[in-house]
Amino acid sequence: MYQGRLVGLREFKAEDLPRIHKWVNDERLNKYLSFATFPRTVEQTKAFLETRLRPTGRSEVDFVVYTLSDRTQRYIGSVGLKNIDWLHGHAELHAGLGGVEYLGKGYGSDATRLLVRYGFDRLNLNKIWLQVIEFNIGGRKAYENAGFRVDGRLRAHLRYGGKTHDLLIMSILRDEYYARLEAVPEQAPPPAKPLRRSGSKRGA
Ligand SMILES: CC(C)(COP(=O)(O)OP(=O)(O)OC[C@H]1O[C@@H](n2cnc3c(N)ncnc32)[C@H](O)[C@@H]1OP(=O)(O)O)[C@@H](O)C(=O)NCCC(=O)NCCS
Repeated sequence: MYQGRLVGLREFKAEDLPRIHKWVNDERLNKYLSFATFPRTVEQTKAFLETRLRPTGRSEVDFVVYTLSDRTQRYIGSVGLKNIDWLHGHAELHAGLGGVEYLGKGYGSDATRLLVRYGFDRLNLNKIWLQVIEFNIGGRKAYENAGFRVDGRLRAHLRYGGKTHDLLIMSILRDEYYARLEAVPEQAPPPAKPLRRSGSKRGA
């Protein structure tokens, strides 16, 4: 559907279930994600996937992330926009990779760049924002790589391991995104491939 330098984004498929369920109870991956505080059953993962297979409404959009090196386009994580506010033109980004073996390889930055391009080019948004806990350095860097900057912090908003931590709010504005594309074009996802004409060999 959309391809970057390392990863692509596609729609959810029923066969993604085992790969999604494999990571949702992995504390190394879900520790910052509030939905996974309690153990998730396969039935809950099925119910989640069902909402992605049959989306209703226009306030959120989700994509599966896959690596371009994998011709079968297996699920390695997902990214999406939620709380899409059509009146004011903003939406909240979320991202998560489904395997520790995928972390720190540039996949998150690339998927975030693709989703940002989709949000501005396709959905015509004015701003994309997100929440990230201050000590999630990998997350912060991935978002900075995609052009986000810190707007502010909700002090002592979260509690982990007996300590309180600030929650950072980061965002990128439409103008910043297009200015950045001009300034650092190599940071942009490659342009979409042109459509191939069908039946051109027969001169149709
Ligand atoms: C957040 C997430 C999507 C980022 O994706 P990613 O593929 O791991 O990130 P990338 O490899 O694209 O980039 C991360 C950058 O942070 C660096 N990094 C990663 N972990 C780090 C750490 N603990 N300390 C310092 N730097 C770190 C990487 O080296 C890379 O740096 P670079 O751009 O200078 O090369 C992914 O880590 C993830 O899914 N984490 C678990 C769920 C989660 O935290 N979701 C986000 C909630 S807000």
